[in-house]
Order: sequence, then C-alpha cells, then structure tokens
Amino acid sequence: MAKSRPKVILSAAISLDGKIATRMGDSALSSGVDKKRLHKLRTQVDAILVGKNTVLQDDPMLNVRYAKGKSPIRIVLDSLGQTPTSSKIIRTSDKIQTIIAVSEKIPQKNLDKLAKFPIDIVISGKNRVELKKLLDILGQAKIKTVLLEGGGTTNWDFVNQGLVDQVIVTVAPYLVGGKEAKSLVDGDGFAKISKSLRLKLDQVTRQGNEIVLYYS
Ligand SMILES: NC(=O)c1ccc[n+]([C@@H]2O[C@H](COP(=O)([O-])OP(=O)(O)OC[C@H]3O[C@@H](n4cnc5c(N)ncnc54)[C@H](OP(=O)(O)O)[C@@H]3O)[C@@H](O)[C@H]2O)c1
Repeated sequence: MAKSRPKVILSAAISLDGKIATRMGDSALSSGVDKKRLHKLRTQVDAILVGKNTVLQDDPMLNVRYAKGKSPIRIVLDSLGQTPTSSKIIRTSDKIQTIIAVSEKIPQKNLDKLAKFPIDIVISGKNRVELKKLLDILGQAKIKTVLLEGGGTTNWDFVNQGLVDQVIVTVAPYLVGGKEAKSLVDGDGFAKISKSLRLKLDQVTRQGNEIVLYYS
C-alpha cells in the first residue's frame, strides 16, 4: 500500500443471506442500536464514500445524527457527474464538506451544474473513477480513514483491487432472497475461492437480535 493511501473500512448492514437491499432497493436493514453504532464509527473516520447508485436509490445524508461528534467528509463516486443537485448530499454541501469523484469523461454541462455548489470535484481515471489514484489524492489531502458504505458495485471494485483493509458488517435477522437483490459485494466476483479476499475474524459483538462482525 502506498504510504499516503487512506485505510479503507468496508461497512454495511447485511441480511442473513448477504443482501444489502431487496430487489426493489429497500435497504432498511439497520436497527436503532446499529444506527447508533454506525454513527459513532462515522465520527472516528475522516470520510465516508459511496457509489452514485446509492445516492440515487437512498438519497442519504451520510452525516452523524445518532451519536455525538463531527460528520466526516462525504465522497460520491460518479464518473459523469450525474448526482442530482436535488439530492440531500448536494443540497447540504454548504454545511458538510462534499467531494464528487469524477472521471475525465464528465461532460462540461455537468461540471458547470456542480460548480454552482460548494463541492470539491476530484478527477481521476479516463472513463471511470480510478480508485487507487483517488485514494492517493485523498491521502495527500490528509484523509487517513475512509468508511466505504456501498453499494455492492462499489464494494466489489474496492475488494477486487485489494483496497479494503477492514470489514465491519452487521448481520441483521432477515432472509431477503432474490437474485436481483444487491449483495454486500457484487460485480463479477472472483472465479475461485483461492483467489478471493480472505479475511481474519478479529471480533464478534452480539447486539440484541443481530451480530456485528469485525474482519481485517
Ligand atoms: N445495507 C447497506 O448497508 C447498504 C449500503 C449502501 C447501499 N446499499 C444499497 O445498495 C444499492 C446500490 O448499490 P449499487 O451496486 O447499485 O451501486 P453503488 O455501488 O452505490 O454505485 C455504483 C456506481 O458508482 C459509480 N462508480 C464510479 N466509479 C466507480 C468505481 N471505480 N467503482 C465502482 N463504482 C463506481 C458507477 O456509476 P458511474 O459509472 O456513472 O460512475 C457505478 O454504477 C442501493 O439499493 C442501496 O440501497 C445498501
């Protein structure tokens, strides 16, 4: 790992069958207790990162509400700069530092649209956001820890490129099913278990009817 690259913690609430949302995109898996745990974790990181589809689907704030502490910087992977200006993240960019990570392919009209907001635009990659380059840029900007909060496509890109240092998942007591439902890690997936990312279990916490698993 390059010295300046931030530590990446993959974080999600998953169903017992490894889904992060239903086939209709409903991702309300977290309990109240888990929201508090997550928000406390958010106060301990420098940035939260999500893919564009998570913003389109959930319109999240990605701030700290259920714990005391500062909201981290929010980062959206959005190669073409299509994040709606009506989204909560963009509408609150004057209050919480927000980065839209785009590629060189972003159309000028989208750059102009985003330029109307106090957003930091970070360009990496020709057609798609290049994660290693992005992380190097974030590292140079003194961002030491990034909480990767999905979705499955973004998680896969980080996992596939060997960029995940820690995984914290809450296993919620639901069986969601559905081959179209999003999994913790989507994308093409590894062909062989021997080639997939193997982790070490560091901690297990029971939290009412759910468990939190800590892997590195
Ligand atoms: N349970 C949970 O904890 C949880 C957490 C988060 C999300 N979710 C759910 O996950 C679903 C969304 O997941 P998703 O897999 O559809 O999408 P996603 O990972 O949120 O977003 C994927 C998009 O990000 C953009 N992107 C840009 N650069 C990328 C890169 N290098 N690697 C990967 N993506 C890049 C791509 O769009 P461009 O090509 O346009 O750039 C890509 O299509 C939603 O239903 C949401 O509710 C659940």
